[in-house]
Amino acid sequence: MATRVGLITRSPEETRAVGAAMGKHLDCRAIITLTGDLGSGKTCLVQGLAEGLQVPSCYYITSPSYTLINEYPGRCTLYHIDLYRLDGVEDASDIGLDDALYGEGVAAIEWADRLPEGGIVDPIEVCISTAPGGENWRRIEVAATGAETFMAHLERLSEEKK
Ligand SMILES: Nc1ncnc2c1ncn2[C@@H]1O[C@H](COP(=O)(O)OP(=O)(O)OP(=O)(O)O)[C@@H](O)[C@H]1O
Ligand SMILES: [Mg+2]
Repeated sequence: MATRVGLITRSPEETRAVGAAMGKHLDCRAIITLTGDLGSGKTCLVQGLAEGLQVPSCYYITSPSYTLINEYPGRCTLYHIDLYRLDGVEDASDIGLDDALYGEGVAAIEWADRLPEGGIVDPIEVCISTAPGGENWRRIEVAATGAETFMAHLERLSEEKK
């Protein structure tokens, strides 16, 4: 059964900080799938992940919309993938994602819902949506079936933020 944690952020900085806290506790083979509308904050969260994974700050993380995948060095390699421009993808292997997904390194995939359901093994699923409190409020929902230690850290963070 999946464990779920929900967090509210009230600014891009706060979303980045949540990403950084997540990045600190990720296993080096983790796969994070990110879903949510255009401009919901997926790239913002990945900027935080990079910080938490100790990617040097000289790397500026933007949506890799035209390159499909960008790679950054850190405590673990970070693969930032954006599938927004893809359609009709059969399988992650068909678009050369296997190394990023199943080799050593953390993969963060924006618009992961462009891939067929169940196409990724054991993802940590992050879904970002607007929250009713104000223009800059976001709800970050995280769900995973494994990653127990990571989810326990996130649960603690969520409690602290309440
Ligand atoms: N709480 C918040 N968390 C994250 N971003 C926020 C928040 N409040 C406002 N924003 C703004 O929302 C935008 C999020 O942009 P970002 O590029 O991260 O979205 P995205 O989900 O990656 O979009 P796309 O689907 O186009 O790649 C930024 O302009 C940011 O300043
Ligand atoms: Mg983006």
